[in-house]
Formats: sequence, structure tokens, C-alpha cells
Amino acid sequence: MEIGTIIHKVRSCPSTNDLAEQLALAGELEGTVIIAEEQTKGRGTKGRSWYSVHGKGLYLSVILRPEGPDISLLPLVAGLAAKEAVMSATGLDIRLKWPNDLICEKKKLGGILCESNFLGNRVNYVIVGIGMNLDHEPDDFPEEIRFFVSSLKIMTKRSADRDLLFSCLWRALNYWYGLFREGKNDEIVRAFEESMAVVKGKKIIILRDESQISGFYAGIDSQGGLILEVGGERIHFYSGEILTIEYE
Ligand code: BTN
Repeated sequence: MEIGTIIHKVRSCPSTNDLAEQLALAGELEGTVIIAEEQTKGRGTKGRSWYSVHGKGLYLSVILRPEGPDISLLPLVAGLAAKEAVMSATGLDIRLKWPNDLICEKKKLGGILCESNFLGNRVNYVIVGIGMNLDHEPDDFPEEIRFFVSSLKIMTKRSADRDLLFSCLWRALNYWYGLFREGKNDEIVRAFEESMAVVKGKKIIILRDESQISGFYAGIDSQGGLILEVGGERIHFYSGEILTIEYE
């Protein structure tokens, strides 16, 4: 079933990822979307919370049931789709910060949290949670993150057109997930590299567990890992986050 054919809308829930997981466990079909106006326990990556105030942001989760066991590219697929949707709906220039932060003018506009469930070595479902800052004013963000984040409204100077954004998102998700299902991994990785907020050869610092590793960004590998060149050696990261980027 195409993504976005079935949509459950709720006013409030702890986390759309949790709601999607309950539905997936009860047998809900692939492609089903859960959208909330607010989340009381929105989750981000690395165990962080995702600030989800009522009516300002986009909080949604998609249930996927990919066939192969190789799901490592799904966060990239979701990032590409979210980036494309925002660009089509607003005209903003969006870049991706590995693994899947949406960046506009060096500020974070949104993020993605993919959570998977296996039955033995078979994927049962993957929940793709997408969060975006839509109508926030600077004062709507907690002070400690205000400098690092932005919203579509701050960037475009007008309220986000949610219906347009949703229709662009379903189209882009179906396109990129379709490529994933066809095994067009090279195309996905190439597109992701082209969308990255940093160009190859630039200095970045990766935070993994508690340690910071500094090196030169050298690309994305076929599994969706980030390649860092450190002292002439290439290290592949499959978890972690980019802490600082030398943009120019
Ligand atoms: C990140 O840390 O960048 C990822 C944020 C993901 C937030 C979204 S909002 C919808 C879904 N439900 C959650 O609890 N988290 C994701």
C-alpha cells in the first residue's frame, strides 16, 4: 500500500512512534501514517527528547514492512524524502546532515527517528518518525537550543502550508522507498552524498558514544555509513553524529 493512503490523526499522544509501534504490532498495514498535533513524550535520537509543542511542529510516523533484512539505508531514504518534500513545498534550500538532520542555513529544521522490530532475522516493521519545526517563532524554542534550530516560518516568513507539505512528503517517501525496494542502493547513496551539508575533504568532528573523532569527510558507504579520513586511514561510522562541520 502506498505511503499516506491510510492516515490516523490524533490531537495528542506521548509519541507517534510509540502509537505506530502499537498499531504495527496489531498488524497495521505498511504505509499507514500517524500524525499528532502534539506529543507529550516526543523522542529524538540518542535518547534525547523531541520538543513537540501543540500545533507548531509536524510530528508523524510511518509504518514500513521492508522485505529484506538490509534496512540500514532507510534513515537515508527518509532523510532524502523529507528534504525533497520541504524543498518542493517551500522552495528553501535544504541540506542533510548525516544520518538525517534537515538543515537550512546551518540550522536544524527537523530530524528523523527510525526504530525497527525483528522476528528472528526477519524485519517485522520499521517505524520512521519525522519531526519538523513548522510555525515556531524563535521564542518557542527552549533557550539552550534556540541558536541551533529554526523553523519553516522563520525561514520563509509565512505559515507553513501543511496540506502541501504532506502531499509532497507522501510523494517523495513513495519515490525514495520505491527505489529502496527495487534495490537501487547506489542511487540512494549518491543522492544522499549530493545532499550532504558538508562537501568531501572538509573537516568534521564525529561524536560516538562519549568520544569525539576529528577527520576529513570522505563520503557515504553502501550501507549508509559515514566515511571519515583520519591520519590517512578511512574509518566507517554506522552510529554517532556530526558535532561540528567546516562548512566553507
Ligand atoms: C532527532 O533527534 O533529530 C530525531 C527527531 C525525531 C522526532 C520525531 S517527531 C515524530 C516521531 N515521534 C517521536 O517521538 N519522535 C519522532
